[in-house]
Amino acid sequence: MTDKTHLVDEITGHRRMRRNRKADWSRRLIQENHLTVDDLIWPIFLVEGTGIVEPIPAMPGVNRMSIDKAVEAAREAADLGIPALATFPNVDLALRDETGSQALVANNLINKATTAIKKAGLNIGVITDVALDPFTSHGHDGILRDGIIVNDETVDAIARAAVMQADAGADIIAPSDMMDGRIGAIRRALDSAGHQDVGIMSYATKFASAHYGPYREAISTSGLLKGDKKTYYIDPANGTEAIRDAALDVEEGADMLMVKPGLPYLDICWRIKEAFGLPVYAYQVSGEYTMVKAAAANGWIDGERVMMEQLLCFKRAGCDGILTYFAMDVARKLAKG
Ligand code: PBG
Repeated sequence: MTDKTHLVDEITGHRRMRRNRKADWSRRLIQENHLTVDDLIWPIFLVEGTGIVEPIPAMPGVNRMSIDKAVEAAREAADLGIPALATFPNVDLALRDETGSQALVANNLINKATTAIKKAGLNIGVITDVALDPFTSHGHDGILRDGIIVNDETVDAIARAAVMQADAGADIIAPSDMMDGRIGAIRRALDSAGHQDVGIMSYATKFASAHYGPYREAISTSGLLKGDKKTYYIDPANGTEAIRDAALDVEEGADMLMVKPGLPYLDICWRIKEAFGLPVYAYQVSGEYTMVKAAAANGWIDGERVMMEQLLCFKRAGCDGILTYFAMDVARKLAKG
C-alpha cells in the first residue's frame, strides 16, 4: 500500500528502479557490460637505441621505448593477458623528408620492432599504424605538393609500406591517414604479396580533433606540422559523413573499424556498430588520457575511477575494445580483482 502521506503515486510503488540497485550482489546481477583485459589494445611509442625508456612529459606514465625494452614490455603485456599492441615510431628527425621515404625502408624502426616482438613468440598481436606522419618533415599523413596532400600517390606509398609491415610480421595493419581508397589498395597489395591473413583495422572515422596534441609530442611532430589535417580527417560536427566514410572502408575490405578520438565520439561508436556489425574499437587518444592524468594529479578527480568508468562506457557504446594508454594500469588492476 502506498503511504498516502507521500506525494509518490501508486504506480511508482510498482515500478521502483531502486529495487535492483539495493545491494552489491543485485547490482552485479543486473550489470549489462563488463570491462575485461580482452578489451585492451596498448599503444606504445618506439625510439632507436638500446636500453631506453624515455618519459613523454605531456603523457605522464607513458614512455618511448627502444626495441629491446619494447620486447620486454610486450612480454609483460602478454603475461597480463592483453591481446594486442599498437606501435608508433618516433623517427630520427634526420630521417624525415618531404615524401616520408623512411616509411618505405624495410628495416625501419617500426618494422624492426615488429620483427623483434614477433620473434619473442608471445601470445600477443602486433597492430602497426600505417601513415606517413612519423616520417614526413612536415608532419602530414601524406605526400605534400604545392600545399596539397596528394591522395592517390599517398595511397600507393601507404600500400607499399603496409606490405613491408606485413613482411616484418605485423598481424593487423591500421591505416590512420584517411586518404580515399586506401583500404582497398592495402587489401589488394597485401593479397598480391601473399598476406591474405593479415587483417586491416581501419581508422574508419578519424576526426580532425584537438585531442591529438600530446601524441604529436610523443612522436615529435608537434613542431613540424604545418597547417592542419582538415582536408583529410572528418569534421567533428559530422556524424552521417562519418558513417558514409566507414561504409566505404567496409566495402573495400576492412576487417575491423576504429573510431578516433573516443569519448567525445561515443555516438559514432554506437552508430557504426549498429550499421555494420563489424568489430569496433575506440581509440582513447593522447589528449583524453592526459586530461584524466592532469585532473587526477591536481586531486580534482579520482583518476583511477574515472579511467575505469570511461573505459566501461566504451563497452556500453558498443565497442569491442579500446586502444588506451591506460591498458597496463587497467590490466594490473583487473588482475588484482
Ligand atoms: C596520425 C596519427 C594521429 C594519432 C595516431 N596516428 C593523429 C595525428 O597526429 O594527427 C593520434 C593518437 C593519439 O593522440 O593518441 N597518423
